[in-house]
Amino acid sequence: MFRLLPTHLTCERLAAPRGLATATPRFSWALQGDAARQSAYQIVVGADGNHVSDGRGSHWAPDPVSSQNQHFIAYGGQTLGSDEVLYWSVRVWDETGAISPWAEPREILTGLRDTDWQARWIARYFVLPAGREIPADTPYDNPFQARPADHMRCDFTVKPGLARATLYISALGLYEASINGRRVGDEVMAPGWTDYHQRAIYQAHDVTGHLTEGANTLGALLGEGWYCGRVGHNQRRAGNHYGGRPALIAQLHLHHTDGSVARIATGPEWTTHQGPVAYSDFLMGEHYDARLEMDGWDAPGFDDTGWQPVEVFDPDPQPPRLVPAKSPPVRETVRFTPKLVGKARSGALIYDVGQNIAGYVALDVTAARGDSFTLRHGEMLDADGELYVANLRFAQATDHFTARGAGPERFKPRFTFHGFRFVALTLPDGIAADTVSLTAIAIHSDLDITGSFTSGNAMVNQLAENILWSQRGNFLSVPTDCPQRDERYGWSADAQVFWRTAGFNMDVSAFFGKWFDDIADAQLPDGAFTDVAPSKPLNPYRITAQPGAPGWGDGPVLMVWQHYLRYGDARLMAEAYPALCRWLDHIDSANPDRIRKNAVYNNYGDWLNVGPPSDRTMVATAYFAHTADTMAQVAHALGRPADTAAFEALAGEIRTAFNAAFVDPDGRITGDTQTAYLLALDFALLPETLRPRARDHLIEALDRADGHLQTGFLGVRHLCPVLADHGAADYAYRLLLNETYPGWGFSVRQGATTIWERWDGWTPENGFQSANMNSFNHYAYGSVGEWLFARVAGIDWDETNPGFAAVRLCPLFDARLGFVRASYRAPTGLFSSEWEMTGRSVRWQIALPPNTSGTIELSAGDRLVSLDGAPLPQTRNQQDPERHTVVAGPHTLIIERTQGATP
Ligand code: BGC
Repeated sequence: MFRLLPTHLTCERLAAPRGLATATPRFSWALQGDAARQSAYQIVVGADGNHVSDGRGSHWAPDPVSSQNQHFIAYGGQTLGSDEVLYWSVRVWDETGAISPWAEPREILTGLRDTDWQARWIARYFVLPAGREIPADTPYDNPFQARPADHMRCDFTVKPGLARATLYISALGLYEASINGRRVGDEVMAPGWTDYHQRAIYQAHDVTGHLTEGANTLGALLGEGWYCGRVGHNQRRAGNHYGGRPALIAQLHLHHTDGSVARIATGPEWTTHQGPVAYSDFLMGEHYDARLEMDGWDAPGFDDTGWQPVEVFDPDPQPPRLVPAKSPPVRETVRFTPKLVGKARSGALIYDVGQNIAGYVALDVTAARGDSFTLRHGEMLDADGELYVANLRFAQATDHFTARGAGPERFKPRFTFHGFRFVALTLPDGIAADTVSLTAIAIHSDLDITGSFTSGNAMVNQLAENILWSQRGNFLSVPTDCPQRDERYGWSADAQVFWRTAGFNMDVSAFFGKWFDDIADAQLPDGAFTDVAPSKPLNPYRITAQPGAPGWGDGPVLMVWQHYLRYGDARLMAEAYPALCRWLDHIDSANPDRIRKNAVYNNYGDWLNVGPPSDRTMVATAYFAHTADTMAQVAHALGRPADTAAFEALAGEIRTAFNAAFVDPDGRITGDTQTAYLLALDFALLPETLRPRARDHLIEALDRADGHLQTGFLGVRHLCPVLADHGAADYAYRLLLNETYPGWGFSVRQGATTIWERWDGWTPENGFQSANMNSFNHYAYGSVGEWLFARVAGIDWDETNPGFAAVRLCPLFDARLGFVRASYRAPTGLFSSEWEMTGRSVRWQIALPPNTSGTIELSAGDRLVSLDGAPLPQTRNQQDPERHTVVAGPHTLIIERTQGATP
């Protein structure tokens, strides 16, 4: 048994990057075992995996380094070439000098540089050149004027002695590639969403196993996706955002044993045709006519007479930069068998997936040729048991399938996804419900799940599940607001309030690395970050990107800082820094009197709150101060003392202005709302003397609301943390456990399986909220998740030690929960916290991975009776919260509650 082992190896935040965006990739690992710490490490990088597994590396084989560092160690070996396959490994020394074995080597593909691309963009002609015949296209019933998907193909020969082959591929739109009739890779919605005018992501697939010596065929099915399909709201024809037709680029590298490399690239010899996919659009759905399938189209020997030549062209306004994937791709992740719940009056069969998801349904049928099936998707049923679709706005979310009639067949859409829990299936005459079978498939960016949380309270457990499912439903290439209606944008306030929760649930490090590129690409010339990123696509009316509102435009600053605290990724922060400074300059120079009245754009305030609204200028100014403060922390961490001082001074000026404009001598804040006090307390805007007063006003505001929350997107995140940190944990727990409206428990009690956009999305009194804006899968209110991990379970980051090298262990025991079992796989390793309360006694078991330490911070009135079996002398004043330091490893603590709710 080894006392210390490196695990979860990553290079540039990925388990196995397929393409590197840097010449100096960085290596990281987590640790497991009984050892207290790592005293040294050694990394090796080389072209031969067997050599690397025993510590020999052709590219970099440095000596061991005495260091506890386990994150972001930059490559320092020979210059990396392009399209190279490398392996890396690491071994570690514990504090006694014992050495671990070399970790199982991990693969890295270096990818292509800009200059390596010989392939050209190809697309179906808008208008064929004179002299070419246009094959008759099928007259589709296509009310949305969406286009059929394009099949693109190319035959090629593989000479003897193939050693390995990599397919580099991207699209303006979406693609699904195949070689010799076999699908390449398991990604869906590739290449993902970026601002295609600036960059497009390429995927790199190892396709050695797809190829045979002699004749081969590379095929791709090309859809519209974010590029020219429908995204966004309020326009029936909200397509063509980045361009008018999808395009493909691909380059297949064939490495031979004799060292030669052949390249097959998209170009004029490719041909194209349209087939069974009449359209496949995010908002509208897919229309698939299996009678039009072209068997063997992506395999050698296919007769492609009648296929058109492709147009080779340079996309407008300029070809995007092709960049490697920085984030894990979107994949099919979880499958469900929907249950038939009945037949609606409309005649449709209604199925319940049991879970609100983003994804689609695969339909298995045996039917007659020409039989048509329709699948409509919705999140809720109405009072009559019909699918409720009004809240989808212009999204049709409907798939049509026409059977080919040759035995059992399966329909599964390709370039669309729906946000749904219920499916209305319309069958052709003569087909019985029990002869069809449905499989609902959830898709999302396939990030590792890192958190788990259960407690003795079923409602809270369901809430935690709902939060995770709203993250699954919305982390789809970018973090979106919602997956069902005609919107699906990367709204930055939704993301920033949820980011810390998101980071407990899943490893979001690589996902954010990619999204921050989108954010930076979207930044406007005057320094404004935008409300959404990738930039709100140009619509047919050429409305330009919307600059960021208070709380929205500030999001990138707040998320970059959180990313640093969680992952310790200083390079991302350093690279982001100039863009963050431009944003702060932008709002700073527009508001010389420090009240944020100017450059606020759409000021959404505390969006979608219930009860008295908060003053928008107050909210904006609070965020201004917080953004300046956060920038001071960023600058400090980057070692920039002058900037730190300047940002601190700015934050001080804003604080002074905030107090003068919005705070009365008794600590009452304009509007007297919960959110006003929450922001002022959490952003430390008030002088010391007024904080207790503000806290009292917050409690009064809660009491006025009968212990219910009234917060919107911006306020909600601070509720439980602020209450608990200001000696009102009981109020925080009351909010958490409340099952009446408005509150988290209310939607859970209504059977929600995801977080709703609005507290009153549906109420028994009023039914559905306005269909204009009423999503049932919006994660913003799920921002309470961070409190479950950080304070209820008590696994909190330590701001003085970014990257979870040290943690604060500060649980809030509560008899009403009974027990909590939680864990978080941090970048350093697995932390767990399990407590159980019996009467006034708490048994708490924690475990910290090697190389970390923790500070136990008990709430006032909690007394540590014993630590790892050793009784503790009771010398402390019981009013002082206790602090203890613990080292790596498991610990058992017995605690006595002297205050707080009795069971
Ligand atoms: C979106 C949000 C977003 C908001 C901005 C809505 O349409 O769904 O979640 O933050 O607009 O006000």
